[in-house]
Amino acid sequence: MSEREHESAPPKWWHPAVVYQIYPLSFKDTKGNGRGDLKGIIDKLDYLNGTDRSLGVDAIWLNPIYPSPKKDHGYDVADYYAIDPELGDMETFDLLIQEANARNIKIIMDYVLNHTSSEHPWFQESRSSKNSPRSDWYIWLDPKPDGSAPNNWVSVFGGPAWTFDETRGQYYMHSFLSDQPDLNWRNPEVVEEMKNVLRFWMDRGVSGFRADAIEHLFKDSEFRDEPVNPHHDPNIGNPYNALIHTYSRNQRSEILRIINEIDEILSDGNQGFMISETWLCAEDLLEYHKASKGKACLPSNLNILGMPWQVDVIKNYIDRYDSILGNDHCPNYVFSNHDVSRIVDRLGKSKAKAVATLQLTLRGIPFIYYGAELGMGGAQIPPEEVQDPWEKQVPGLGINRDSARTPMQWDDGPYAGFSDVEPWLPLCDDYREVNVKKQLEDPDSVLNLYRSLIAIRRSSRALIKGRYQPLESGNENVLSYIREIEDEKLLVTINFSDNEAEVHIDIPGSEIILSTNKNRKLDKLTALDGLVLEGNEGCIFKLQ
Ligand code: NOJ
Repeated sequence: MSEREHESAPPKWWHPAVVYQIYPLSFKDTKGNGRGDLKGIIDKLDYLNGTDRSLGVDAIWLNPIYPSPKKDHGYDVADYYAIDPELGDMETFDLLIQEANARNIKIIMDYVLNHTSSEHPWFQESRSSKNSPRSDWYIWLDPKPDGSAPNNWVSVFGGPAWTFDETRGQYYMHSFLSDQPDLNWRNPEVVEEMKNVLRFWMDRGVSGFRADAIEHLFKDSEFRDEPVNPHHDPNIGNPYNALIHTYSRNQRSEILRIINEIDEILSDGNQGFMISETWLCAEDLLEYHKASKGKACLPSNLNILGMPWQVDVIKNYIDRYDSILGNDHCPNYVFSNHDVSRIVDRLGKSKAKAVATLQLTLRGIPFIYYGAELGMGGAQIPPEEVQDPWEKQVPGLGINRDSARTPMQWDDGPYAGFSDVEPWLPLCDDYREVNVKKQLEDPDSVLNLYRSLIAIRRSSRALIKGRYQPLESGNENVLSYIREIEDEKLLVTINFSDNEAEVHIDIPGSEIILSTNKNRKLDKLTALDGLVLEGNEGCIFKLQ
């Protein structure tokens, strides 16, 4: 599709969007119980968009807010059509939609479609008898003749993927905890019910979904044993990696069929959107893009999370992914979320601004994980205070996701302005320095850099819709590229190292419109050949 054709297609709200991810339990407590809630999110909407001092995001993705026994912090849903009473109620949710709309913020819900809670009435009914109406809503198999599990599959969170149920005398399958039984997506009733979930929330004003664990949706119909991974070292590795998940994951053709069906619902005049959680290589991601004929569904690209902060590695990957997708598909690059360590804990505090510059000048839809805009770090969680079920099941592998889920740091007061009482997870020690109040006052803060980058992005067609063109910077530590559309051309340079770096780009003087270096003069013609960047400096130039 040409640039012109792109522009004449009906506008999709998410294409120029910047999305902000909120972990509701950790955003703002208004009930005084140390846990965040929906009212807290409403109270903080001005921070996100709508005033001169806002961050300027277009949408928020909420981690699950459904009723749940919270064995996996809401990823064990007990009712898809209600709000967790601890977080609020439907009236408060409707108010959230209304107040968000008033500030041009769309709402994206987490769509936990692969599994429910074991306390969900559907599962209770399914487990009650082989003859129950929902008998076939989950994945049940008989034991082997010796009574053992039907095959060798393991759960992502450790231990077998099968649990024996005394009442049915059968095993049920769970990709995650035994409290999270997998739904049977080969049952048309399940498919229809889960589509109704989408319709229900869209009718209430929700604009999009984040599809959880979509790779697990279908399993091999013969339930064959998975091959053993010859490279796995049981002494150091995650036990899940002892097997190669040929049969329990990414059963592509059936998943793509469902994506296509969901795409039809979302794009049917509804302007809905879905981004799926997909831990897949670039070529597989392309197939997920292609399955969405109306382009309402896209996969998230989580590959950068596992890469070292090295120009050659990251550049090769972005160049390749961009050329594989072409201009027809909208990419996405994830730099942080609730399942991995925070950016500054992974890469170091000095990298926060460079990552922001990269993320907000790449093609596609940037997702900002709450607190990343402050360069917020995670807290050390003592073993006895661990809440993350994954860490509890396989301790000591460095998985602990709690540290990336600590309370948002609003100010330097008690409990960082998150709550009046001790929060459900400890605060990060740095909160007296790293907090919204302080950073809003400091022109050179990480927060103000995010605000500037988002503002530049919003006003630049080249950044929203333009092509990505790789460029050699003449320095192995500097990543550079051009974003270009018709009459607008921007060049980005990012120094990945802590030391000064000289770039050699053969382009005549250009105007610098943003730099993370507070001493650099903006709006000035600067030669790109011989330009010296300070350590970790990111710049955006407007080319003539
Ligand atoms: C992926 C989610 O991001 C994670 O937090 C959750 O534990 C698993 N899926 C299971 O739902």
